[in-house]
Amino acid sequence: MTEKIYIFDTTLRDGEQSPGASMNLDEKLQIAEVLDSMKVDIIEAGFPIASNGDFEAVREVCKKVKNSTIAGLARASLKDIDRAWEAVQHARSPRIHTFIATSPLHMRFKLKKTEDEVLEAIKKTVSHARNLCDNIEWSCEDGGRSELDFLYKCIELAINCGASTINIPDTVGYTLPEEFGKIFKNVKNNVINIDKAILSTHTHNDLGLATANNVAAIKEGARQVECTINGMGERAGNSSLEEIVMTLKVKKDLMPYHTDIKTELIMKASRLVSSITGFPVQPNKAIVGANAFAHEAGIHQDGMLKHSGTYEIMTPESVGLNKSSLVLGKHSGKHAFSEKLKELGYEPGDNALMELFGRFKDLADKKKEIFEEDLIALAEDRSASYDEHIKFVSLEVNAGSVEKPEANLKIDMDDEIKSVKINGNGPVDATFNAIKKLTATDFKLKLYQVNAITAGTDAQGEVTVRLEDDDLSSQAKGSDPDIIVASAKAYISALNRLIFKKSKSIKENSSNLQIRGV
Ligand code: KIV
Ligand code: ZN
Repeated sequence: MTEKIYIFDTTLRDGEQSPGASMNLDEKLQIAEVLDSMKVDIIEAGFPIASNGDFEAVREVCKKVKNSTIAGLARASLKDIDRAWEAVQHARSPRIHTFIATSPLHMRFKLKKTEDEVLEAIKKTVSHARNLCDNIEWSCEDGGRSELDFLYKCIELAINCGASTINIPDTVGYTLPEEFGKIFKNVKNNVINIDKAILSTHTHNDLGLATANNVAAIKEGARQVECTINGMGERAGNSSLEEIVMTLKVKKDLMPYHTDIKTELIMKASRLVSSITGFPVQPNKAIVGANAFAHEAGIHQDGMLKHSGTYEIMTPESVGLNKSSLVLGKHSGKHAFSEKLKELGYEPGDNALMELFGRFKDLADKKKEIFEEDLIALAEDRSASYDEHIKFVSLEVNAGSVEKPEANLKIDMDDEIKSVKINGNGPVDATFNAIKKLTATDFKLKLYQVNAITAGTDAQGEVTVRLEDDDLSSQAKGSDPDIIVASAKAYISALNRLIFKKSKSIKENSSNLQIRGV
């Protein structure tokens, strides 16, 4: 039996720190559920002190998740640690993850603390955390640029105070694999109590070396790897879960380790994270990119036909990718539809299934061939989970190079049909102007993105729209064979979400004021 590598996923914490990737509670729960069913060992669900929203999300993830350990992040402060414990304590298996910077640069300029003061903070905070929870992870932020002798002292102390996982992050993605691996080797050889803890690696991708650095750390003793789906994360992101897990699976001969990850759920997790955050996966991204298993060159295709091993080092099925196949048509019944959804990993309740089936029939009327990707787009359209105060009814657009484009839009606002005809600089601009006029809103459009879901000119267009108002933002997708209609649906859905968030934040603020007796 090979040694196990524990997978610690931080998509909901470090991943959410990607600029523009904030997720709401419902979205975080969906991601946590997939991570749990993939058998991720530890899910870092958030940074509870950061906001009430983060706190609530961590607490709800704890209630939802059945198997994974749930970690909450905390700085080296008693308040942070208490808040993290408050959020994770009801998990089946809770963990507090606390950290402090240990590099000369961070200690001097960011913390304004001497080495002795940092050691004192470690003693106080790790001991405090250990009194609350029996599973403590301690991280030395900017570990990749820390001085080794000081790092040894910090790690020894953190273990003596009760940390059972020691995480060494390359916070700024600065080290080379050899260099990073050496840190782990030195820590193993120089920290006297290191056998009492699991060593963990956490890497960032600023030089594109995040996964290579994690591999180097594993070779030198790390047994927990921190990573995110699609490599989401601060700046250039973190090491991606799919890369590290598949590397360990494919390179068993040179790396005698295993993970418990159900790799067949990788594509599902990747699509979900991309669809929730609106961060598209680059086509040539390892493992989950659209081209990762595509073979274009004639000699490659010829080789593939003779033996798939000629150009594929793993099967698409092993990561949950089934070749695009025609699955259903206009005459398919509800049973076949629900069975196919189940096969793709979606099991909506009765009402949601009826609604999805109706939308599938509408789509089948417009589009001859329905592929798995079309069904995934339907199933992942989460607009139904919001209170749909505004609904799309119909749209007609005149566009082209002669007349100024004009949109004639009808919507249903709280059961009242409203319509308007309005111009714009293009068909999409005219459509968005119509929505703004009818709803008397004018939020900032921060992202507008169109993707084709499958090939062909009758493919569904999938549009992502992100709207922003002060510190709140919302993002949604819309799909339709007509990309202007898809654009209108995506805009309206993002608008519903933003209105919902705004009213929720007003309610939260007024109840906070009441609690404080203002
Ligand atoms: O990159 C980093 O140093 C981190 C720590 C909080 C673990 O994300
Ligand atoms: Zn990080």
